[in-house]
Amino acid sequence: MLRYGVIGCGPVFEVFQVKALLKARGLKLSAVCDLDVERVKKTAENYGIEKAYADYNNLLRDKSIDAVVVNLPQHLHVRVCVDSAQAGKHVYVEKPIATTLKDARRIIDVCEAERVKLCVGHQRRFINIEMKARNLIRRGYLGKVFKIRVIACWYEPIENLLQKEWWYRKECGGGPLMRWGVHKTDTLRFLLGQEAVRVFAEMDTFVHHNRKVTVEDNLVALYRFNKGAIAELEVSNSQHEGVTSRGETIEIWGDKGTLWYRPSMGEMSLLSLKKTNPVNRNSFVTMKLEPDGQEMVKIHEKFAESIKKNKKPPVTGEDGYKALEMVLASYKSAIEHKPITLPL
Ligand SMILES: NC(=O)c1ccc[n+]([C@@H]2O[C@H](COP(=O)([O-])OP(=O)(O)OC[C@H]3O[C@@H](n4cnc5c(N)ncnc54)[C@H](O)[C@@H]3O)[C@@H](O)[C@H]2O)c1
Repeated sequence: MLRYGVIGCGPVFEVFQVKALLKARGLKLSAVCDLDVERVKKTAENYGIEKAYADYNNLLRDKSIDAVVVNLPQHLHVRVCVDSAQAGKHVYVEKPIATTLKDARRIIDVCEAERVKLCVGHQRRFINIEMKARNLIRRGYLGKVFKIRVIACWYEPIENLLQKEWWYRKECGGGPLMRWGVHKTDTLRFLLGQEAVRVFAEMDTFVHHNRKVTVEDNLVALYRFNKGAIAELEVSNSQHEGVTSRGETIEIWGDKGTLWYRPSMGEMSLLSLKKTNPVNRNSFVTMKLEPDGQEMVKIHEKFAESIKKNKKPPVTGEDGYKALEMVLASYKSAIEHKPITLPL
């Protein structure tokens, strides 16, 4: 049984990670760490976790810990990931892997040099409906996929946004594209099995005007992929949700069909010209979603297995790097008002 320590017990840990880590097979959540002494004590008590640390260096010195989960704001990932790898711990780092490609590369290189495994928290790949979409594409229900549109737009009141510096400051990894759009750049790679080679993006801050806010509140990007597909990604945190734009929607077009789904609503619709269409032509299917948090359980179980069996992690450092690279290339395009070629 691998013993895990978590560094950073903020809302992501409370809402998403802790239940998954307590449930996942093959690992034991043995230690937690947070600068906030009260928070870490309470967390350990609430969930019956053996050890609580305020300084992550003490957790790293704990020889009984095999792996760490780095749950810190993204601009703090690089230092803690590097220190963890150099202490011989396997590393699960929340998305985005880092805020710059230099930092992302350093994390990957140090983990490799120290022979520890690295996994990036793009757990959304393991949501049932996302896996189903990928399978339908792989099994040819859409034929050759040529276009994808991903919408991840909702409304975040300015009072919420101003709660955390790293949400509203560019250099800390704020902005909808960096904060959750990076899940979507990963989704595009995951669904298409292709790499982005060019992007053109436009962004602006239309609604969240405040002297503290240095990030976009809307961004639209167009990508070309290496095997020819094109994709559109829209992110916003200032868009009131209407009937046709509720949260997150994904549409995929191929020469033999169209697939449409909303991950958070568990809705999927497929129109396929393939004879063995599992869904009637033009029918609309509402899939039942798994209970919340299963995707997080899956990624942790798969990562633990990859450590034990010395296999490739479920989402590699390179996956995290590529998803981040698409984000940074989009920002570069929006700032320079020109198409940007990848790799950067
Ligand atoms: N995978 C997902 O779906 C998903 C969703 C939301 C956020 N995230 C990512 O999770 C990460 C954490 O987000 P959050 O909202 O919990 O952040 P947060 O800022 O609210 O909480 C971070 C916690 O880390 C602690 N901390 C800061 N520096 C520390 C240090 N040096 N040592 C120990 N503790 C320290 C803080 O006291 C705080 O409790 C971010 O990278 C974010 O992008 C992932």
